[in-house]
Amino acid sequence: AITHRSDYAPPSWLVPEVALDFALDPAATRVKARLAVTRNGAHDTPLRLDGAGQVPLAVSVDGATVNDWRIEGEQLVIPLTGNAHVVETEVEIAPDRNTQLMGLYASGGNLCTQCEAEGFRRITWFPDRPDVLATYRVRMSADKVRFPVLLANGDPVAAGDDDDGTHWAEWHDPWPKPSYLFALVAGDLAVNRDTFTTRSGREVALGIWVRAGDVPKTDHALTALKLSMAWDERVYGREYDLDVFNIVAVDDFNFGAMENKGLNIFNSRYILADPDTATDYDYDAIAAVVAHEYFHNWSGNRITCRDWFQLSLKEGFTVYRDQGFSADQGSAAVKRIEDVRGLRAAQFPEDAGPLAHPVRPESYIEISNFYTATIYNKGAELIRMMATMLGPQRFRAATDLYFERFDGTAATCEDFVACMEEAGGIDLSQFRLWYSQAGTPRVSATLAHEPGSGRATLNLAQKVPETPGQSDKQPQVLPLRVRLFGGETGQPLGEEQLVILSDASASVTFETVTERPVVSLNRGFSAPVIVESDRSAEDLAFLARHDDDAFARYEAMQQLMLDTLIAATIEGEADTRAVVAAVADTLDDPALDRAFVAEAVLLPSENFIGDQLSVVDPEAIFRAREGLRRTLGRTLEPQWRAACDIALRRPYAYTPEDKGIRRLRNVALGYVSASGTPDAAALAWAQFEAADNMTDRQGALTTLASGHAPERDAALDVFYNRYADNPLVLDKWFQTQALSSRDDTPVLVAELAQHPDFTLANPNRARALVGAFAVNQRAFHAAGGAGYRWLTDQLLALDRLNPQTSARLLPPLGRWRRFDPIRAEAMRAELERIVATAGISKDLFEQASKSLKG
Ligand code: ARG
Ligand code: ZN
Repeated sequence: AITHRSDYAPPSWLVPEVALDFALDPAATRVKARLAVTRNGAHDTPLRLDGAGQVPLAVSVDGATVNDWRIEGEQLVIPLTGNAHVVETEVEIAPDRNTQLMGLYASGGNLCTQCEAEGFRRITWFPDRPDVLATYRVRMSADKVRFPVLLANGDPVAAGDDDDGTHWAEWHDPWPKPSYLFALVAGDLAVNRDTFTTRSGREVALGIWVRAGDVPKTDHALTALKLSMAWDERVYGREYDLDVFNIVAVDDFNFGAMENKGLNIFNSRYILADPDTATDYDYDAIAAVVAHEYFHNWSGNRITCRDWFQLSLKEGFTVYRDQGFSADQGSAAVKRIEDVRGLRAAQFPEDAGPLAHPVRPESYIEISNFYTATIYNKGAELIRMMATMLGPQRFRAATDLYFERFDGTAATCEDFVACMEEAGGIDLSQFRLWYSQAGTPRVSATLAHEPGSGRATLNLAQKVPETPGQSDKQPQVLPLRVRLFGGETGQPLGEEQLVILSDASASVTFETVTERPVVSLNRGFSAPVIVESDRSAEDLAFLARHDDDAFARYEAMQQLMLDTLIAATIEGEADTRAVVAAVADTLDDPALDRAFVAEAVLLPSENFIGDQLSVVDPEAIFRAREGLRRTLGRTLEPQWRAACDIALRRPYAYTPEDKGIRRLRNVALGYVSASGTPDAAALAWAQFEAADNMTDRQGALTTLASGHAPERDAALDVFYNRYADNPLVLDKWFQTQALSSRDDTPVLVAELAQHPDFTLANPNRARALVGAFAVNQRAFHAAGGAGYRWLTDQLLALDRLNPQTSARLLPPLGRWRRFDPIRAEAMRAELERIVATAGISKDLFEQASKSLKG
């Protein structure tokens, strides 16, 4: 069944209050639900409650058992005569058999929930849609020894012991919320506590709940939480609104984390960290996800989504907010570079492939498939463009208006844009196309200079490509930050301008251009578009040296590398001198922070190079890239060695400066290794052995894992044995091998799937091996198609356990149209095999069938 945005109708019954009573038991949990329901408007339709196959054990209305209910499809239909009733149901569910990890399930012996988007219906009968807002009172009882801790949304109200060995707790959440924000946790957990006092003086008890031994690994998350709370007050004027805020970490989780009101539940990989087990990247991701979920308290919980087509209302905005938070913790430029790299790695291919969809989709089969980079990351770029056009003061006035006007409601993307328009004082009618048109706009830019008149003209043209189901696109509003530089002096020629391109083409004239100009375009990546310019290698090298916008400087370098790599891929060789010189200059520039340098000298990924070509040749791309890596490694060997050395003399500290040094060191180690110098493996091994932190250790392991030196096996063994009981680090062990550039990676990965520590039942582990392998372009697409068959086997096996996670790992197969006929046919055949398999989930079916059609 397909759900269409245009079919939205307000709920016919509202549920202002809910009381739930859980008798918790992993094998058989009893759930009693008591719903106060009120008729919404004048109609005579019965109450319809969503479920997921449970059999109602009892149904009563206003205290009396009724028998005139019926099951229609997945709904429980109860005829009601008055305008307000109390409806009670009871069901039994089995959390320990819930392998989908949606609803109430068991993880590591504890019980927890995940309800977004439609998991609540797997717990009890309810109008499971985000525009039905209720206050929740939750009582739960459980065995006191196995489940000493009982948590739910809101504030704790009462607790006690019963004489049968069980205990109980009652929680009340005063803030009306949709069912997808419901949560409970029962388990044997230890806590790291702190407090935060809000600007208006509310003292909030904070708690991060984990397995007893993991408490020392929660300090970083707790610090990030306090920083987030203060940041949201300062930057958006948003305060927390309950007396408690709890976070629970679980090992089995379908995605990153969940913003349940007052009780966030996290994938443990986004909570647990210490220097010995977590990389700098992990530390940054933890802070970002903690902030993201916390920020949802306003952008998501206080104001939720009217329907799931509006998902980007909360996700795009919240990603934008967490990006701003992270930018403020360290280098904003490096954060922007990382975010754009992520957008290009995940969202651009989505927008260019069979699963392309607008930020506000028109239809879906399974909403879980729409928790995508488009909804999240492109959605965040839309907010960023509006913020750029409004400027900081008016943007803040617009978000204030939005929070004020829609507090306590289920809103739409349109509501948000209308606030931007009203408080920003600009017309966003055409801008709204960003919400409805899929595809990444392409902008072509050429600069013409008339030396005589001192005038330069920037000619811009845009094209929004066709996407499945959408042809004939209208031009969009593209805010492009632009600045000219003098090619001789290196000085800026005038101020930066914000050019708003809203027609198919336009020209911008610059006066008093007294020397040959070089144009810096889309600075800060102000619009999420693909820029095609005729800038020469010389101009790009010039910008890589002189641009005063750090992102544009990085971008010039990347474009220079990309042009070189594409030439090398197509022609088998290329002139690498400009790249070598630009990398050398960047390495030698003492004014640049090391984290920026590390980003700037990193070559575009094999996948990204492939995305630029009409027919992807994975082997040629790999050779071209390795060739350039070797050239850079050899030519600049002393600089790389120096970068490796600096770090060796510093004991670990988690500071922006030291993170930058470590990042550059790992990049440098990769280049030394690429140079083929005889002591490369020894150098990596030395780093591996001497490491006092996971960033250095994993960096060395990554370099070794792509080679054949004896140090490779030794390092993998040492690493495995050292961390055999740490699932998050074992994920790294699997992932590092799946990403290896060795020729035999497909074989090694298939063997690793037989390893006793491998399991598809844990989503992190499945992603670490299967997900990583599928994005290892050369390995996945190795001639013969074994990678495609292996991935498909894994997807089908995983689909029987966990459809959501299976469906999320499918997109690499959907790129089949971009490959040569032999590969394309082999990939297509696997997609056909998936759709022909009886009993597959609608999650996997939607992804595979759309990938075939596209
Ligand atoms: N709202 C959560 C977050 O972004 C993610 C929920 C994902 N749900 C899903 N069905 N994929 O923080
Ligand atoms: Zn979110």
